[in-house]
Amino acid sequence: MSTSSTARVEAPNDLEAFWMPFTPNRAFKKKPRMIARAKDMYYYTPDGRAVIDSSAGLWCANAGHNREVIVKAIQAQAAELDFAPNFQFGHPKVFQLASRIAALAPADLDYVFFANSGSEAVDTALKMAIAYHLARGEGQRTRLIGRERGYHGVGFGGISVGGMVGNRRTFGQMLGGVDHLPHTYNRTEQAFTKGEPEWGGHLADELERIVALHDASTIAAVIVEPMAGSTGVLPPPKGYLKRLREICDKHGILLIFDEVITGFGRLGHAFASERFGVIPDIFTFAKGVTSGAVPMGGIVARKHVYDAFMKGPEHVAELFHGYTYSGHPLACAAGLATLDVYRDEKLFEKAHAMEAKWADAVMTLRGEPNVLDIRTIGVTAAIDLASKPDAVGRRAYDAMDAGYHEHGVMLRITGDTIALTPPLICSDDEMGEIIDKTAKAIRSAA
Ligand SMILES: Cc1ncc(COP(=O)(O)O)c(C=O)c1O
Repeated sequence: MSTSSTARVEAPNDLEAFWMPFTPNRAFKKKPRMIARAKDMYYYTPDGRAVIDSSAGLWCANAGHNREVIVKAIQAQAAELDFAPNFQFGHPKVFQLASRIAALAPADLDYVFFANSGSEAVDTALKMAIAYHLARGEGQRTRLIGRERGYHGVGFGGISVGGMVGNRRTFGQMLGGVDHLPHTYNRTEQAFTKGEPEWGGHLADELERIVALHDASTIAAVIVEPMAGSTGVLPPPKGYLKRLREICDKHGILLIFDEVITGFGRLGHAFASERFGVIPDIFTFAKGVTSGAVPMGGIVARKHVYDAFMKGPEHVAELFHGYTYSGHPLACAAGLATLDVYRDEKLFEKAHAMEAKWADAVMTLRGEPNVLDIRTIGVTAAIDLASKPDAVGRRAYDAMDAGYHEHGVMLRITGDTIALTPPLICSDDEMGEIIDKTAKAIRSAA
């Protein structure tokens, strides 16, 4: 490349080349929010300033950051086996991790397929659902039903069934044969609710309307987040998920839960399906499986789903799908160590025990300027701020920026909503620190 690129390599603080994901690049590069290292509940800036992590990174570091057990497991694995294909071959840890995840999952959710991210996990689940029906002689079932305000990552499958307009409007046609349930949020009925709102269970019946429109015989699967996370924490209304399950059963439609956020303790149980007592046919996971230390995602399928594929000549792959890095040794080592931390420190139980205190603490932000609603469930919360009339998203952006630069808290925002989802190791004092600093950041953006 040209001399200018050589100059760039030599300039250690040149921020130009990295095209940042889901970030206003020009604003960041003018005034960066840089993170250099992390430990437990804290990030540290390059000059050593502590910034408390109110969002477990991106909802992934459930065990906290740079936990010694996990770091050591990754180091040891890198020295022992860097890579081995899981196509036609296999390494011990991928089987161990699959067994551990299957053991955590409820009912006969017993078969684990690995990917490398939530988006790949979603694609895997959608493809599996369509191929499942074909394998059973119902190949006309190809339609997929998602939900408004749903987030299922950024693959074409995920944005097609997803329902956040910003992730859809600039990317053309997407998948055909997709329909959407209505979202479940109604501020008039639900404002300042802790846990599952009383209002909204009836919205599951909209699935009957969609079935009547397309006919059940064309529908492969319904995919929802048990708790919509990225759109700003929308806990499911009481009875909603159970009703979806009933309607899917009635019509032979697979139910997929996207547990990329809710998995691994976020709602006080290993998985949200356990918390809500509703068993999907397939669920996705990512993020918390390695506490964010190495990229990994995947799906867990029930026995009847796996069994439907296990036929045909035994020398031929039953499912033509997989990623070079499905079940990468480093990710498996990180996953096994992370599950040890969750078990040994009883972090899912801890999350369950701290839910009420967390909800009370977050609700104290109710009187802060411009707060329109607060929702909490498990160790999650969202705070909706009033948008500035001429600049939607600006207020939360300013709060996030002030949080980092002035108050020492990392805040995760979506539109004008702040989502608080700290690591599950969060102590009472750290909870107090997060709430206090979030209040200051909200005031800075008033
Ligand atoms: C429910 C859900 N599904 C899928 C994804 C996509 O995961 P990834 O960013 O790892 O592709 C996310 C990410 O936040 C998510 O919240």
